[in-house]
Amino acid sequence: MKKTTAFFREAKKSGEKITMLTAYDYSTARLEDEAGVDSILVGDSLGNVILGYENTLKVTMEDMIHHSAAVARGAENALVVTDMPFMSYQTSVYDAVVNAGRLVKEGSADAVKLEGGVKFAPHIRAIVGASIPVVAHIGMTPQSVNVFGGFKVQGKSEEAARQIIADAKAVEEAGAFAVVLECVPADLAAYISEILTIPTIGIGAGAGCDGQVLVYQDMLGMYSDFVPKFVKRFANVGEAMKTGFKEYIDEVKNGAFPAKEHTYAISGGVMDAIREDK
Ligand code: KIV
Repeated sequence: MKKTTAFFREAKKSGEKITMLTAYDYSTARLEDEAGVDSILVGDSLGNVILGYENTLKVTMEDMIHHSAAVARGAENALVVTDMPFMSYQTSVYDAVVNAGRLVKEGSADAVKLEGGVKFAPHIRAIVGASIPVVAHIGMTPQSVNVFGGFKVQGKSEEAARQIIADAKAVEEAGAFAVVLECVPADLAAYISEILTIPTIGIGAGAGCDGQVLVYQDMLGMYSDFVPKFVKRFANVGEAMKTGFKEYIDEVKNGAFPAKEHTYAISGGVMDAIREDK
């Protein structure tokens, strides 16, 4: 059964942990969906892990729509949340609503995610007002990397922690149905999870959050350009892929692949007739 925002609300009440993973294509979305993940995030992290950029700033609406639509085709049960890319909502409340609408209409997203707290509460309110569910994203927000001066833990000082608490309250008040807390101290994330009525989804924010999200290439060992401290490697798919690629290369080079069982036969006599024509 398709998960909806009601599942997030009920999970918060019952204490069931919410699982979210990123995906950017149909086959990965299908595998995650079949494994039973609650929600799939089409993250703008695709800028890093799919397109090879050093950050997410170059990702476009067209990139997000293209990948979101592919994921949505593979996600029968999981709720698909699609990231609003850099400059698709920062420019105005109007742009935020128009672009959130495009992610739903053209990208088949069930919900959208945007980075920012107090400053973006009007944008969240307007998108929710247009009947599009919103996940907020606060703490370390990668689209602000140039303001933060790098990918750094946020909310360590009292002032910074109070700002993140204010952001969390503001996005809840604006109507977000969940909030991602990225790279914030575990005690602060646990406190925010206690005081909010909407679920918190943590990434580098400890076990006190109501759910967790990871970039799938990180947790499967498929991306090694940058591996944050909070990543746990649940499988070594990167090594398994390299082994498979190497075996393919060897077998093609030495003629072992393709074997007879990988080929198609032609009707008897056809090749003899063709050869006679020579
Ligand atoms: O883009 C992304 O993958 C994200 C997660 C890191 C939460 O926003």
